[in-house]
Amino acid sequence: MFIANWKMEKTFEQSIEWIKKFKFELEDTLNKTNSEIVICPSFDAIQKISKILNKTSIKIGAQNCASEELGAYTGEVSALSLKEIGCHYCIVGHSERRVYFKETNKIINKKIKILLKNLITPIICIGETEKEKLNNKTFSILEEQLNFALELPQDLTNNEIIIAYEPVWAIGTGKNPTKTDLDQIINWIIKFIDNNYSKIKYSILYGGSINEKNIEKFKKIDYLKGFLIGSASLDFQILKKIVLLFYNN
Ligand code: PGA
Repeated sequence: MFIANWKMEKTFEQSIEWIKKFKFELEDTLNKTNSEIVICPSFDAIQKISKILNKTSIKIGAQNCASEELGAYTGEVSALSLKEIGCHYCIVGHSERRVYFKETNKIINKKIKILLKNLITPIICIGETEKEKLNNKTFSILEEQLNFALELPQDLTNNEIIIAYEPVWAIGTGKNPTKTDLDQIINWIIKFIDNNYSKIKYSILYGGSINEKNIEKFKKIDYLKGFLIGSASLDFQILKKIVLLFYNN
């Protein structure tokens, strides 16, 4: 599974043009490799892209949603609206939202609940900063983020959630964890969730500076269901290369 997080890198027109130009080739690549892709454009482009991709296997996700269901929240976009315009997925708790928009673990938990209620799969981003890594706090940070994120009422644990491990120091920096470190962290996350939140159905992705030059390094990581890709997903040819390289074509 590949999630393309376009952030605010493309305008409405650029997003539509990309989709129109590449949708058939993208679908062909997915069919050849038996993979799934979720495109996460900015809010404004979601509805139109969803119409263009209707009848294809390419899915749409949002990059954020409101932490309240509906009401007087100027400038916010509800999960209910996202559902109505064709979103199947929504990224929550991306580090750029945590840092620039002061999103707390508590707010992220509210968003996750609203998304699950509206049958949108949350893609929950967790990960430590460089300073936290250097201070050996990676696991305590992940534990705190997961504890907040996964505190869910029982009736919301039937649907799958996605956990994206995205070390903050790897996002947009060209740096990646070593295979050994990533292996260890993914295994730790699995054990932690299985021991503490055994009812939750989840899969795990990695994100942070994934590109066509390093994707092969991540091939042999057990239990990794896929990748959250930022800048390398903006260029169709690079995205296609990543998908094909991953499957050895
Ligand atoms: P990047 O972004 O691939 O550009 O590092 C990943 C992300 O922010 O999700």
